[in-house]
Order: sequence, then structure tokens, then C-alpha cells
Amino acid sequence: MSHPDFSSVEACVFDAYGTLFNVHSAVARGGERLGEKADAVSNTWRQKQLEYTWLRSLMGAHADFWQVTSDGLDYALEAHGVEDKELHANLMDLYLTLEAYDDVRPTLQKLKDAGLKTGILSNGTPRMLEAAVTSAGIDNLLDENLSIEDVGIYKPDNRVYQLAVDRLSVAPDKICFVSTNAWDAAGAAHFGFNVAWLNRFSKIQEVLPGRPKAVINTLTDLSDLIGLGQ
Ligand code: LAC
Repeated sequence: MSHPDFSSVEACVFDAYGTLFNVHSAVARGGERLGEKADAVSNTWRQKQLEYTWLRSLMGAHADFWQVTSDGLDYALEAHGVEDKELHANLMDLYLTLEAYDDVRPTLQKLKDAGLKTGILSNGTPRMLEAAVTSAGIDNLLDENLSIEDVGIYKPDNRVYQLAVDRLSVAPDKICFVSTNAWDAAGAAHFGFNVAWLNRFSKIQEVLPGRPKAVINTLTDLSDLIGLGQ
């Protein structure tokens, strides 16, 4: 990609799950009983969790992300032939303390040192997001921890992205939005953010309206992208 211009950016807004926090760390830490099914359960759990956000938004039947995450886990366990209520409860507990990726803290620190505003914009409930940032020790590096619960509909509805504009008091074209989820990157670009798609998992782009302005492979590349140097 040729040199995308992020020089007028005043705020960096991050997706939470998959971007800052490793959603597979719950099964990695608490899924011993799943044995060789562990990866498959974790992948189905994540996929169903996301599908249920999109489907509930279309159905006009909102339930919060804690419920949707629990429902997705119900589906994943049954799909892989596992019936274990205690495991379900343990994995849900672990979802409150997901591991942050190693590049998260130093990047947020660098953005704060440069005087940029920082925030999370996530499907997560306020309680889930609060628990995650506290457990990762990054709460002091974030100006806003925004949940879609304030608008009652999931990403990629435009009302979600508008929430960041309103709460940060920064115009969309001065916001850098970072997500590992390619569909979220597309939605945010379609809304009007400067999007850096964090391609942590070597995926291909979605064929959707809204193209990210830049693609980075680790969060460490973000400071360079917006002109702060490595
Ligand atoms: C979030 C989901 C998309 O944090 O990962 O909003």
C-alpha cells in the first residue's frame, strides 16, 4: 500500500475483542477438558458470538454481549458434542480477564505520550470492558471505554461508530480506528473513519463497502503509520 496519510489524526479508537484482547485465551487457559476439540470449540464460539450480534441486530431483538457470548458458547459446546455446565461457567468467567496482546500496552503508552486521545469502541458490555482493561492494566491509558450498550445495536451499525465521534468530540476524519476484525474495519471505513486494519492473522480483506486506509500486521506499526516514529 502506498503511504496513507494519517497525519491529521487526533484520536485512536480500538476494537476490543480480537484486537486488544485474545478471545482464544479463555479456552487456552480453562479448556483442558476439551482436549483436542479445544481449538474447534473456541473458533465456533467466536464465530457464533459474532453471528448472533448481526442476527439480533437485524431481528430487532437486542441482548447484551454477555448474553450473546454465553449463547455462542452454548452453541459451540453442543456443536462439538460437549455437555458441561461447569466448563461453560468457567469459560465465561475467563472471558472477563482475557489476555491482552503484547503490543497493546506499549502502543497505548506511546499514543498517550504523544498527546493523542485513545479509546475502546466495542460490542462488549460496560462490565465486560471494565473488567478486561483492569485485568490487563491498561485502564489508565484509555480516555474512553465505549460500549454499544449506549446505542443498543451492534457493529457495524453507523450509530455505533458515531458514538465515538460524540464521546471523544473528534470528527470522523480525525479519528484513526483500529480493528483486527476485517468486517469491523470495513464498517468503520464506510462510516468515515481513517481505518488501520490490524491483520494479526494474515486474513484477506472482506468484499464489502468501506476499504481500510492502511493495513498493519502488529500494533507496533501504528505509531509509525500516524507519524510518531517507532
Ligand atoms: C468488539 C468485537 C467486534 O470488541 O470484537 O466489538
